[in-house]
Amino acid sequence: MSDAKKLFIKTYGCQMNVYDSERMAEALGAEGYEATDVMADADMILLNTCHIREKAGEKLYSDLGRMKPLKQEKPDLKIGVAGCVAQAEGAEIMRRQPMVDLVVGPQTYHRLPDLMEKVNRGEQAVDTDFPEEDKFEHLPKRISKARPSAFLTVQEGCDKFCAFCVVPYTRGAEVSRPPERLIAEARNLVERGVREITLLGQNVNAYHGEGEDGTWGLARLIWAMNDIEGLKRVRFTTSHPNDMEDALIEAHGTCDKLMPYLHLPVQSGSDKILKAMNRKHTAASYIELIDRIRAARPDLLLSGDFIVGFPGETEEDFEATLELVRTVNYGQAYSFKYSARPGTPAAEKDLVPDDVASERLQRLQALLSEQQYEAQRSMVGREVGVLFEKKGRLDGQLVGKSDYLHAVHCDAPEHMIGTVQRVRIEASVTNSLKGVLT
Ligand code: 5AD
Ligand code: SF4
Repeated sequence: MSDAKKLFIKTYGCQMNVYDSERMAEALGAEGYEATDVMADADMILLNTCHIREKAGEKLYSDLGRMKPLKQEKPDLKIGVAGCVAQAEGAEIMRRQPMVDLVVGPQTYHRLPDLMEKVNRGEQAVDTDFPEEDKFEHLPKRISKARPSAFLTVQEGCDKFCAFCVVPYTRGAEVSRPPERLIAEARNLVERGVREITLLGQNVNAYHGEGEDGTWGLARLIWAMNDIEGLKRVRFTTSHPNDMEDALIEAHGTCDKLMPYLHLPVQSGSDKILKAMNRKHTAASYIELIDRIRAARPDLLLSGDFIVGFPGETEEDFEATLELVRTVNYGQAYSFKYSARPGTPAAEKDLVPDDVASERLQRLQALLSEQQYEAQRSMVGREVGVLFEKKGRLDGQLVGKSDYLHAVHCDAPEHMIGTVQRVRIEASVTNSLKGVLT
C-alpha cells in the first residue's frame, strides 16, 4: 500500500473544467497526492465548479453541506473549491461554509503548491488573481499514460460579452496560448497514447496565438495538428458564429484529421432577442454561415446551444427559434432555461414567467430530440471511423466514438483500444449505435 495522500476531485460544468481538473491533479501530484474515485477515502477534496447557470452554482453549496460529516470524522481533511464559482465568489465561499480551506480560481491553480503550504499550516488560502504569468508554464510536465481522447486548452476567456453570460467575468479577457507550446503539448499527449485532441476555448475560433513568425488563427493551428504523426483526429469547441473565418470553414472540407462535427451555438432564432443578447449576428446570417460550412463539408453534424425565456422573449420570438431549428436541423444540441447571473447586463431585466419558460423549453427539447434521434438513426447502414476508448459492459465489446461523436458499441479485441477502425453501423439504440468491424 502506498502512503500517498488521497485526492478526490469532482468536476462540474464544461470540458475546460475537465482539462483543468487533470492539470490540478498533476499539480497536487507533485505535493504527494494520488487520485482516488472514493470521496470517503480522500485526504483532500477539490470541487472544480461551474457558475454558468444558477443551478450549477448552487450545487456547490449543497455538496459542501453533504461533506460536513466527513470533515467532522476526519478533521485533517482538506476541502478546496476551484473553478468559476471560486473566481466569482472568492472568500465569500468561506463565509458561507467556514470548513472550506482553499479557494482557487481557474487562472491561478499553478500556484497550488504555495497555497497548499498555507493550508497545511492550518490557514485558509484564497487566490482569484488574473496573473501576468502563464499558468501552463508553471505546471508540472505531463508524464502519465493518457486516455485515447484528450482535451487541450488553446484559448481562455471571452471578449464577446453576451448579455446573459458570466464567462467574460469569471474566465476574463481572451488569451491565446502560443502555437509552438500547443504543438509541443499535443506531441506530448500523442507520445502518452492520445489519438484524438479536442482544442478547447471559451471562444476557440477567436484563437490568435502569437507564434515565432506572427499571429496564428485557429485554422493554421488545426493544420499544424494535422501534421502530427500518430494523431488521428482533431476537434475544437466552443465557437462563436462571428469568428468562423474562411480558412476555418475551408479546413472542414480539406483537412483530413478534422472531424465532421461542429458545435456552433446560436442561442435564439429571433433577431430582436439576438440583439438584446448582444450576439452581434442575425438568424439569417447564422443560417447563411451554416450553408457555407455545409457546402465545404456536406456530412457535417451540427451541434448548438439554445436559451429560452431570455428577458423580453415573446411567443413569436420563441417560434422564430423553433423555425431556425427546423431550418438548420441539428444532430446534437444543448438547451437551457435562461438563468439570471449577478453582474451580467441581462440580470437587470424582467424575467419571463417560469412556467412559460419551462413550457417553451419542453417544446424546444422535443423538436431537438427528434432531430438528434433522426441524425443517429441515419447512421444505420453507413460505415464510419470509430476511435475505441475502453471496454464495454458486455464481454468482448469495446466502446468508442464515431467521427460524428456518436457513442458506438462493437465486438472487437482489447488491443484495438486507442485505434481508429472502420465500423459498419447496424443499429441505433437509445443513446448509442451498435456496429461491426468491417
Ligand atoms: N442562462 C442560461 N443559459 C446560459 N448559457 C450561458 N449563460 C447562460 C445563462 N445565464 C448557456 C449558453 C451557452 C452555454 C455554455 O450555456 O447557451 O452557449
Ligand atoms: Fe459567454 Fe460564449 Fe457569449 Fe462568450 S461567446 S459571452 S462564452 S456565451
